[in-house]
Amino acid sequence: MAGKTSNLMDKLVSLSKRRGFIFQSSEIYGGINSCYDYGPLGVELKNNIKHLWWKSMVYERPDIEGIDAGILMHPRVWEASGHVEGFTDPLVDCKTCKMRFRADQIDPSRGCPHCGGELTEPRMFNLMFKTFMGPVEDEAHVVYLRPETAQGIYVNFHNVRESTRKKLPFGIAQVGKAFRNEITPGNFIFRTREFEQMEMQYFVKPGTDEEWFEYWKEQRLRWYDRLGIRKENLRFHPHGKEELAHYAKAAFDIEYHFPFGWNEIEGIHNRTDFDLSRHQQYSGKDLRYYDPENGEKYVPYVVETSTGVDRLLLTTLVDAYTEEPERVVLKFKPYLAPIKAAIFPLVKRDGMPEIAHKIEEELRQCFKVFYDESGSVGRRYRRQDEVGTPFCITVDSQTLEDQTVTIRNRDTMQQERIAVDRIREYLTPRVSL
Ligand code: GAP
Repeated sequence: MAGKTSNLMDKLVSLSKRRGFIFQSSEIYGGINSCYDYGPLGVELKNNIKHLWWKSMVYERPDIEGIDAGILMHPRVWEASGHVEGFTDPLVDCKTCKMRFRADQIDPSRGCPHCGGELTEPRMFNLMFKTFMGPVEDEAHVVYLRPETAQGIYVNFHNVRESTRKKLPFGIAQVGKAFRNEITPGNFIFRTREFEQMEMQYFVKPGTDEEWFEYWKEQRLRWYDRLGIRKENLRFHPHGKEELAHYAKAAFDIEYHFPFGWNEIEGIHNRTDFDLSRHQQYSGKDLRYYDPENGEKYVPYVVETSTGVDRLLLTTLVDAYTEEPERVVLKFKPYLAPIKAAIFPLVKRDGMPEIAHKIEEELRQCFKVFYDESGSVGRRYRRQDEVGTPFCITVDSQTLEDQTVTIRNRDTMQQERIAVDRIREYLTPRVSL
């Protein structure tokens, strides 16, 4: 991370709040641990990341369809999926300072990492949030907030296949909230208890799964170039046997080099026929696929790609953050930038604000834009650099004479003169996906 200081995370947290990317949840009540809200710029960045994923997974591919399943599902889903029994982390408490740790993330034989105190024996803690359906709060009415979106895809496998008449191999993609009662959330929005996932389950003929697993590993790593993430900050991490989730035969993480170390941003899993077979067993419904090519019936295997929107948002912030001698710049890919263009009148007179407002109104029909007339133009440029706005349009005295404006490029800081009636045509290919 050349040119980046070790307190980068502090700077990002502060910039995120100051400029309206991310706020602490319920801040006026003192906040709630590891819960965050996205502000006016954060929600734009988040939507742009989701749109890029959806476009590359669903719109650009004839073999993948999208769905949007509910957060609450039949409780048997989570028995079938293995989450009731197995979605647990080993929890230890410090008897002295009362802090809690995941036993698999520390060396319990050395005592409490915080104060050196004695630790309790590890006890298994289920990460699913429980609530009740209806007014009666008893075991018969327990439902869970989904801890992954994938199960909404498995239980709809037949509905999607039948309604779209898809043949294997094909995928189902989904973006949506997931919830985990993490023992040790932290590192800002890296690990939280409420987050959003972007998951795709690719259903394949058994025996072809390993080939598809390799295919999706490569596809997904390559996708990060479209997200604008530098290659040198990405790597694969294969899961050893002890790391594999209960459903996986093989798994690779894509990791990013965060200021706090290399950490997972996406998982690619070979889930075999585990989930569909279990749902078949628990629901009593035949979930086999009839293969028209050879007349066989079988339960498809699944290769899953699973990433988190919040974690990718943090990744784009870290990767885009650049300190230059005179300015801080978020060098997002232009289509990720929350604001695509800012419009400035050079001065607040001579009809310049009126022209600038007219340009703003026209561009607002196509892009998220921002009008600013306060302070020197240099300061206005810096304010936009800090939130990653790729283009700044200035109306000046020459505009009054020849109906041209300057368009300043965020990265090069070079300015071009463009006719007012060509601004939209200039911007569209440069800020669109
Ligand atoms: N369906 C498979 C699955 O959920 P996972 O490795 O547990 O696999 C996939 O999670 C992705 O979801 C992670 O790579 C990460 O991007 C995101 N994620 C998981 N837990 C998270 C948390 N507590 N906070 C934010 N993102 C999380």
